[in-house]
Amino acid sequence: MPKKAPKILFASAECAPFAKVGGLGDVAGSLPVALRKLRSNVAVVIPKYDVISQDHFSKKIIEGIKVKKEKVNVWQGFLPGTQVPVYFLENKKFFGNHGVYFKKTAHASSFKLIERFLFFSQAVLELASFLDAKLIHCHDWHTAMIPLFAKLKQSEVKTILTIHNLSSQGKKKPKKVLDFLELKRSRHPNLKIRDKHHNFNIFQQGILAADIVNTVSPTYCQEILTAKFGEGLEKDLRKRKKDLYGIINGLDTERFNPQKNKNLAKNYSLATIERKAVNKTELRQICGLPLKDVPLLGLVGRLTQQKGIEIIFDAFPSLVKMGCQVVILGSGGKKLEAMLKKLAKLYPQNLSLNLKFDIVLGQKIYAGSDMFLMPSKFEPCGLGQLISQRYGTIPIVREVGGLADTVVEGRTGFLFQKYSSADFLKAVRRALEFYQDEKKWRKLVKQAMVKDFSWRNSAKEYAKLYRKLLLVS
Ligand code: GLC
Repeated sequence: MPKKAPKILFASAECAPFAKVGGLGDVAGSLPVALRKLRSNVAVVIPKYDVISQDHFSKKIIEGIKVKKEKVNVWQGFLPGTQVPVYFLENKKFFGNHGVYFKKTAHASSFKLIERFLFFSQAVLELASFLDAKLIHCHDWHTAMIPLFAKLKQSEVKTILTIHNLSSQGKKKPKKVLDFLELKRSRHPNLKIRDKHHNFNIFQQGILAADIVNTVSPTYCQEILTAKFGEGLEKDLRKRKKDLYGIINGLDTERFNPQKNKNLAKNYSLATIERKAVNKTELRQICGLPLKDVPLLGLVGRLTQQKGIEIIFDAFPSLVKMGCQVVILGSGGKKLEAMLKKLAKLYPQNLSLNLKFDIVLGQKIYAGSDMFLMPSKFEPCGLGQLISQRYGTIPIVREVGGLADTVVEGRTGFLFQKYSSADFLKAVRRALEFYQDEKKWRKLVKQAMVKDFSWRNSAKEYAKLYRKLLLVS
């Protein structure tokens, strides 16, 4: 690390393994490591939530930064096994209870949640000035006010805003937000305080104010300029077209490695791919599915509208006719969970339903399944299709966002375009044709497993953006 490399703060609501709810946590826990290898002087900053174990940090490096008459202490830890510092911001009132998002979901509706992240964003800016950081890399709506705060304060710090998912935006009535921030409308006549629906929209503020905006795949970057995917912010995004980039997410290839993963019945690599079968048998046993020689399809993820669960529901009788077994792991909306429970009752021989968050079972599904399902309605990047390819499990995905950018039809997986169970089933049929031909299937598995999904290339692109903003070569 060059001594004088400008300090960069990576501000996120989540960071694995300390506090992770979704893909955002994985990115914040792995991209900084790859950036550090490229000599970026990056440190992560997250709130010190009640769910983070004390073992992760030992040193209080700053006592009592003042933010809104509150005191914030800064504890330091490191991303495990690395030199990447993580700053945990401590404040009991705003961060001290109810986990990351209060209700364990990333939904930005309650004002408590909005207050939490407005306060966090203000605190990050104070920390940046304390540490003389030159750039703040913000992620999703939770930290999207930082660019505007920086401008209002006439701070010289540069900002990048990464959009991981536009569907959650952090919206509330303008008066509530402005009162909390003690912002006087009269002093900022140019501030756009109402979105299409008359809300103060935190994500919109970030999109308009950040020096650079990016999303987590090139295809999603194009999609969000349209009304279909723009979630009402397409016009604002179009205004920023010149400064808008799409950089595909990578994977922590050390963590997601079938050769080293301690949770598998049997480790394997491409050279020992026949051992994958041991994992398949174990998965069936754990899930209570009959030990039959039929294709096993896995699905791991949040059970939300985004993930295309309705498609699976409608297609299920046909999947059963084709002889498939399916393992589903995840939790989410009550309605979707109820739909799936109905299916599990109807087809106990074909569906194993696991409505929970279970990292170990997730890894067993990636290793033990033949195919992996991601029929998403939209998908900014997606992680499951990357992990599954690394595990030699062939993804069947909808051709949207990052899925379109990382799965190649007939080479590493199968894609379908229309959001319909009929189109999805066509893709499954194509996959089964390959599956029936052992040689063809092996080739597919090989092509998927050798693909490079490491962070290296994407980290280089981020480092380039950092350099552009910091005007260093
Ligand atoms: C969000 C998106 C997902 C993406 C992840 C990390 O969870 O829904 O597509 O992979 O963020 O960027």
